Amino acid sequence: MTKAVYPGTFDPVTNGHLDILTRSTELFDEVIVAIADDNNKETLFTAAERLALLQAEVEGRPKIQVMVFSGLTVEFARRQGARALIRGLRAMSDYEYELQLAMMNKKFAPEIETVFLMAQMEYSFVSSSAIKWASSLAGRIGDFVPAMVERALLEKHLAQVNERRRVTGAETVVDIDDRDAGGATV
Ligand code: COA
Repeated sequence: MTKAVYPGTFDPVTNGHLDILTRSTELFDEVIVAIADDNNKETLFTAAERLALLQAEVEGRPKIQVMVFSGLTVEFARRQGARALIRGLRAMSDYEYELQLAMMNKKFAPEIETVFLMAQMEYSFVSSSAIKWASSLAGRIGDFVPAMVERALLEKHLAQVNERRRVTGAETVVDIDDRDAGGATV
């Protein structure tokens, strides 16, 4: 049985990630989505929140497991008995970073291969940061993330707005339903 690990920050998971994940299940018997807990990135969602969002998205798909890990990705992959790491490549700009990561990982764990899948054209410009940015400015992101993620982002941004209003003493509290009805701007 060939097992692969698909590591990332997933802050939050996008349709681009899910596309790579689905395609990797056609190549491997089992794929573990590995959410990095401590990889020097400041995240909007906690590891537990990222886990919950991903688990909800892959529910009912027996080939996929979702786990949170810390430490080196290759050590996690080794512990899980994985043979490969999956990474998505979107554009040439990803290449240099991915090459460096793959080479370092190969040095640490020569028995584990990195397998690259090209992102589909429609997701080649999508990133979690761009999604978070657009969503914070009330941009429509429904084509790029699952509905549950879109809502979770909205809730996060509204919580931030309300926290700012609380700190500055403003009275109005924005509710997610106000936003859905077009009644407030994040
Ligand atoms: N569709 C949409 N977006 C995609 C994508 C796809 N197919 N593939 C990558 N991305 C985006 C992500 O959304 C993310 O965007 P962001 O930077 O705006 O957040 C970006 O590309 C890269 O993110 P991700 O794939 O999550 O990688 P990462 O660089 O955040 O993390 C790890 C990569 C977790 C694999 C790496 O940091 C790691 O291995 N950490 C553990 C410690 C370790 O072993 N380090 C290596 C030592 S050499």
